[in-house]
Amino acid sequence: MPVTLADHEWLAQERTEPSAWAYLCGGAADEITLRANQNAWQQIPLRPRVLRPLAGCHTCTELMGRTLAHPIMVAPMAYQRLAHTHGEAATALAAAAQGAGLVLSTQSSTRLEDVARLYLGEPERGPLWFQLYKMAARSHMRDLVQRAEDAGYEALVLTVDAPVHGARDRERRAGFVLPPGVGAINLASPEGDGSQPGPVDFDILCNQAATWDDVAWLGMLTSLPMVLKGITHPADARLALEAGAAAIIVSNHGGRTLDTVPATAQLLPEIVAAVDGRCPVLVDGGIRRGTDVLKAMAMGASAVLVGRPVIHGLANSGAAGVAHVIRLLRDELAIAMALCGCRTLSRSDTTSIMSFTSNDTKETP
Ligand SMILES: Cc1cc2nc3c(=O)[nH]c(=O)nc-3n(C[C@H](O)[C@H](O)[C@H](O)COP(=O)(O)O)c2cc1C
Repeated sequence: MPVTLADHEWLAQERTEPSAWAYLCGGAADEITLRANQNAWQQIPLRPRVLRPLAGCHTCTELMGRTLAHPIMVAPMAYQRLAHTHGEAATALAAAAQGAGLVLSTQSSTRLEDVARLYLGEPERGPLWFQLYKMAARSHMRDLVQRAEDAGYEALVLTVDAPVHGARDRERRAGFVLPPGVGAINLASPEGDGSQPGPVDFDILCNQAATWDDVAWLGMLTSLPMVLKGITHPADARLALEAGAAAIIVSNHGGRTLDTVPATAQLLPEIVAAVDGRCPVLVDGGIRRGTDVLKAMAMGASAVLVGRPVIHGLANSGAAGVAHVIRLLRDELAIAMALCGCRTLSRSDTTSIMSFTSNDTKETP
């Protein structure tokens, strides 16, 4: 019986075909960023406060005009049917039941309309967002945006850190290829039977490097809030604000694109400072414990996204496995908050648990 996300990981590895595992869990090149993401959260020490009133303690948080039961969202991840035959459908059901926000990948192996129907039917659900890569033809992108809007997605997440495929050596060594029946089904041509990736495959997608002009174009195309995922530089965070981003996701793609980019835990404070409260800042990469979630929130994040652990839960037992992974993180977050003396996740309740400056240590309860 897994009791941590790490337990889910080793159980999942035993159950997953090795080349699919290399795709799902590997990173780029020497996987330095992949390892750094997890290590960085671990190495940030917590400074618990004691004897503070905890009555009414809760994990709720505000994000883009709504109250979430907790700040944990599922990151966009391609081809989830590689991990389990129910793929994104299982992830959606589990995330909705656990009140976790869901970002569906452009490269979902399940129809975006089916995922939306499953997710939006759950009253306790969090936000439902659709992730986009820039496509070669704007008409394809326009169609996809229209479908996402019609299906009820509530924001568009443009991923900006993968203009080309990363050098994923582990994956190549393992000889990974998509098995028959698993593909980017939403990119299939309307005439096709939908069972195979469509005319626009991932390499072609990623060779069409997006620019700030594309961001502006997307902003004009849609009335949905636009979120930029993959911001790691404060100058880009400021440009994102100018381009009308409703939120920013600090992400290095879980170490799958450019290796040796710093860990997101290291990048977050600089981006939070650059944004200066003008839009929500979310973060992903290496989040494996409730303490990691608490640290991210204390550093100014508005929510976190979790990637591979969701895949691990999915590989272990479909929707039940994903729900268990999210539940474990939620429970660990609540325990960490109580042990740190944080009644809520507001900055005023959390800042001093990360404080090391002389000013902060003078703070009174
Ligand atoms: C198997 C897999 C597929 C992914 N596919 C996408 C994708 O289609 N679009 C995207 O923006 N990010 C994608 N990502 C990156 C995640 O959204 C997220 O940034 C990353 O996984 C977070 O790191 P973590 O796995 O350490 O939690 C993918 C990640 C994995 C592991």
